[in-house]
This record gives sequence, structure tokens and C-alpha cells, in this order.
Amino acid sequence: MTPRAITIRLAEPRDAQAIALMSRDFIESGLGWKYDASRVIRAIRDRETLAVVACDAKSAAGARAAINGFAIMEFGDERAHLVLLAVRPSLRRSGIGQRILEWLLESARCAGIASIHLELRAGNEAARRFYRAMGFYETVLVPGYYRSGEGRKEGALRMLRVLRVPGPLPAAWRPPRMEDR
Ligand SMILES: CC(C)(COP(=O)(O)OP(=O)(O)OC[C@H]1O[C@@H](n2cnc3c(N)ncnc32)[C@H](O)[C@@H]1OP(=O)(O)O)[C@@H](O)C(=O)NCCC(=O)NCCS
Repeated sequence: MTPRAITIRLAEPRDAQAIALMSRDFIESGLGWKYDASRVIRAIRDRETLAVVACDAKSAAGARAAINGFAIMEFGDERAHLVLLAVRPSLRRSGIGQRILEWLLESARCAGIASIHLELRAGNEAARRFYRAMGFYETVLVPGYYRSGEGRKEGALRMLRVLRVPGPLPAAWRPPRMEDR
């Protein structure tokens, strides 16, 4: 499948179970399952949170398109926190993660966000390389950040991408327009 066969759209409550299972299996594995369907539904309904999914662009008439990737990002005044991002293993390295992230970056720029922050498991080399390729850089290693129900601890690597100089937006600021880029 090529990236052109993928559509990125806002997540809907009916996507919550598929998103939650992907989070459990591809992100939270071994740490306990925090993003179950009810928590994902709250994120989808939260006005300060953006939840998006990557779906097959073409599916059989009447059939629901399969969800191949998703992301959840929380917006503050100046900072956004990328909470979760995953792509199905069989579809990785085909540009889906990049397309989801570009969608989020465009939304953050339009919202006047100055920087995007995230944490990932310290040993998650694939994700670290992905985020580095997407313009993020490492800021700090936090030992014992993740804790499973069995008391297992794992360090987190914090990463950051700067979108603009922090501080109030100039009065004349307008969201970027696609044709200006
Ligand atoms: C991290 C993740 C979302 C990347 O998604 P993806 O769709 O495979 O990424 P893309 O195909 O868009 O990759 C874009 C670029 O990132 C870099 N990259 C991505 N995965 C990489 C890897 N495993 N090793 C090295 N570089 C990688 C490459 O530069 C790649 O471009 P290229 O394929 O042309 O070389 C995916 O690996 C994943 O779901 N991992 C499990 C969940 C996870 O760890 N999420 C992050 C923490 S919440």
C-alpha cells in the first residue's frame, strides 16, 4: 500500500475501540493499559484534544475503512503534547506516520502553538529515529517515568519540536495558508 491510498481524518467515537487496541498493543505493551476505549472516547470528545486516524482511502462499498494508524495530541495555550502515535506494524516505513504528524503540525501551527512535546520509552529506537527525522530533538531522559501495575519502571525520553518563538502572538498574526507554504 502506498501513502496515497491513505486518508487522514478526525477520529470519531466509533473508532475508539480500534484506537484503544492499537495503543495497548503497539504503545503501552508491558506498561498496563491506560488508553482503553472509554479514555479514548473522552479524548475524541475533548475540545482541547485532537484525535486523528489514518484509514484506507478505498474500501468496499458500505464497509468501514480499516484504521491503520492514529494519533492523539493535547493542545495548551502555547504548547501541544503529542500523547500517542502509532502505525500498524505491517504498514510501517510507508510514510503513514509522517502524514499523520504533518496533519498535527499543520493544526498546531494554525492554533498558534509554539512547541510540540512528547515522551517515548527510552528504548524505543524506531520512534526516536522517526521523531528525529521529523524535526524533533531530545531534551531530557527521565528515569522511571513509566510504571506498570506490577511495579516495573522504564525511563522516558522527552523530545521537542519548536514551531515558533514562544510568547504572545503578534496582533497581526493569521493562521498560515496552504498557498503560502
Ligand atoms: C514511530 C512510528 C509511528 C513511525 O511510523 P511510520 O509510518 O513507520 O513512519 P514513516 O514511514 O512515516 O517514517 C518517516 C521517516 O521516519 C524515519 N523512521 C521511521 N521509522 C524508522 C525506523 N524504524 N528506523 C529508522 N528510521 C525510521 C525514517 O527517516 C522514515 O523515512 P524513510 O522510511 O523514507 O527512511 C511507528 O514506528 C510506530 O507505530 N511505532 C510503534 C508505536 C510508537 O512507538 N509510537 C511512538 C511513541 S507514542
